[in-house]
Amino acid sequence: MNDMAEGVGQAKLILLGEHAVVHGRPALAAALDRGVHATARRGRVRVKGPRVRVPAWQVDVVPDANGDDLERAMARLFEASPSEVRDAVVDVEAVVPSRAGLGSSAALSVAVVRALAALAGDDLDVIRTEVLAGLAEEVFHGRASGIDAAVAARGGVLRFLRGAAPVAVDLGAPLPAVVAYVEPRVPTREMVSQVGAAYGKRPEEVGARFEAIGRLVDDATTALVDGALDDLGRLMNENHAELSALGLSTPTLEEACAVARSAGAVGAKLTGAGGGGCMMALAPGCESEVAAALEPLALWVTTVRLGG
Ligand code: MEV
Repeated sequence: MNDMAEGVGQAKLILLGEHAVVHGRPALAAALDRGVHATARRGRVRVKGPRVRVPAWQVDVVPDANGDDLERAMARLFEASPSEVRDAVVDVEAVVPSRAGLGSSAALSVAVVRALAALAGDDLDVIRTEVLAGLAEEVFHGRASGIDAAVAARGGVLRFLRGAAPVAVDLGAPLPAVVAYVEPRVPTREMVSQVGAAYGKRPEEVGARFEAIGRLVDDATTALVDGALDDLGRLMNENHAELSALGLSTPTLEEACAVARSAGAVGAKLTGAGGGGCMMALAPGCESEVAAALEPLALWVTTVRLGG
């Protein structure tokens, strides 16, 4: 047992396959080189635990099984942690926006479970980390596929299929990308349930879109391994069109994707649950131009080099 311990969780970008992954198709996701860092303390802490504080997100909560989403999610993580650390205070530094589609909730959950386990002197393996973080993701996402928790816990670039072990993808070339947070969005759980309801009502049409997205993911896996960025960009554009047809885009996301393509991006799409939030652009050789073009219409823009 320790008085203080730390844990990290990485934020992510879904490269292709969001939503279809909830319904059993593959998806590709990449960890960002940043995320959240949690420090858990017990004893000699001025505030009374259990408590989770994330100043960057204006979060200061007491875990509560009957509270709001965040309070319930944190209660699940504390309840699943060793009993001797259930009064801990967890302070979290976050360098990505929350609720933007960048996997902030999974990064938070992974960092918190790791910090609590380390406080108890436990060594959590990656599978157990994902399972525990998944308890909170069920609250945030409803029918979560587990992709966000897998990337937050493992890092790298992953091909993910629900129920199977994630497979690390070796990139043929680094991916120079731009991420723009264009507008606040509807909670992931609502977007996931909206797509599930559409699938229930129009199984053939929506199922065909999931199939098409699955094929794009297969082709994109090959493009990633070959370092064929033009092909990858085209596949991302096609994936965006499928997501728009599923009602997941917004006028601002459409405008941001169009602006990024005009500025030279080989591909641009919404990333994450949609309904607002973030878009990403693949911009080899023109990251600064694409970032500058997106700046006026975004709340937050960053360039990232995925995979090295
Ligand atoms: C959210 O990052 C990705 C979704 O596919 C939900 C999930 O897979 O749990 C929209």
